[in-house]
Amino acid sequence: MTDPQWGFATRQVHAGLDDTDPHRPRATPIHLTAGFVFDDFDQGHARFTGTDDGYSYSRVGNPTVAAAERRIADLEGGIGGLLVASGQAATSTAVLGLVSSGEHILSSSSIYEGTRELFRDDLARLGIASDFVEDHNDLAAWEGGIRPSTRALFAESIPNPKNDVLDVRALADLAHRHGIPLIIDNTLATPYLLRPLEHGADIVVHSASKFLAGHGTVLGGVIVDGGRFEWQPDRYPQLARDRGHDGRTVVERAGRFALLEYARRVAMRYGPVPSPLNAFLIQQGVETLSLRVQRQSSTALRIAEWLAEQPAVESVDYSGLPTSPHHALAQRYLPRGQGSVFSFTVQGGREGARTFTDALRLFTRMTHLGDTRSLVLHPATTTHHLRTDDELAARGIGQGLLRLSIGIEEPEDLIADLDQALAAVAAEELLTRAGLT
Ligand SMILES: Cc1ncc(COP(=O)(O)O)c(C=O)c1O
Repeated sequence: MTDPQWGFATRQVHAGLDDTDPHRPRATPIHLTAGFVFDDFDQGHARFTGTDDGYSYSRVGNPTVAAAERRIADLEGGIGGLLVASGQAATSTAVLGLVSSGEHILSSSSIYEGTRELFRDDLARLGIASDFVEDHNDLAAWEGGIRPSTRALFAESIPNPKNDVLDVRALADLAHRHGIPLIIDNTLATPYLLRPLEHGADIVVHSASKFLAGHGTVLGGVIVDGGRFEWQPDRYPQLARDRGHDGRTVVERAGRFALLEYARRVAMRYGPVPSPLNAFLIQQGVETLSLRVQRQSSTALRIAEWLAEQPAVESVDYSGLPTSPHHALAQRYLPRGQGSVFSFTVQGGREGARTFTDALRLFTRMTHLGDTRSLVLHPATTTHHLRTDDELAARGIGQGLLRLSIGIEEPEDLIADLDQALAAVAAEELLTRAGLT
């Protein structure tokens, strides 16, 4: 059992363990099984009707998955969690649990591009409309975008690549004035740096593939519910009005766990469930979360400060720098560190970015975040290649902008690698000016 007095680093290794297993394993075993034996005829029936809450089939529930859910929910300060197969599955499952055809989601525009495309294209095909607020701290724009049919507000606590910190409390208060829950994608902050539920958000989602798993080996996603939102029957009939086979609504049956119970049903029916092996690896990754994130964040700050002084660098987007327009919010929300994903703009535009990227020896060219290894990506030609030039300009993503995800290597080695790649850019720039290329 978890002691609520324990600090984060203690809970990240102890929370959620099942201490009822008769074999007393210290680590959570990998229950790699499709299903679970029914002792007799009546138990099979009881498992299906829910009068016996034992396990039946791994798409519906699995002890390894449940242990990971309990641990991550504990770290986020939620009442429970639902582990799914990827971060995208976490977002789509949470949204499909809340929003129906004919209804609307209002989202920040500063979010992972895959999420933006899910809302704009894929959910649109199901009759779910979405709109995007360009500046996620512009409360008037959020207010103006809310419709009678809006069923969820969605934003990221630290979006990439700009590290533009969200004022979670202000947005949560606005959402609640309109009777709408706020969903926060907390992937880049992790619960070590920021716990959105403590600042008024209602639901947290993660790509567990990133910092939670932490080693660049598995995909996973998680939904954590704060359990505080009051589901109104006219707006959320699937939770608070429609009666199931037992004659009760989900809220009557599950109380504060209503959304999690319903989301579990969405995941069970649509099927994006995680492998118990992945759940094990995510849980194991979480055991070192604070150690990795602390080091990654402090190295990121050091590198951002160093980059800001380099002549071949035009600008650095990192909220840990006093020059950042998000510095004040970072001081308020992220006192333990401002994360390890940020961007900078190299001189020479797209060609400068190409020379820099290809000159790197230690940083890995890769589309991923939160790995133990440091990664580099050119958003304009990869993650954001479907955005128009105007959209890129509005988001401040130029052709020379590069995204870094800082790992746990020696900071000096990372700086040396960046230094020699910037030297290659400066040499290229000199040749260009001299008309030699
Ligand atoms: C902030 C954020 N949310 C969600 C996702 C989607 O996660 P996954 O790749 O695990 O589906 C990503 C992936 O890059 C992400 O960066």
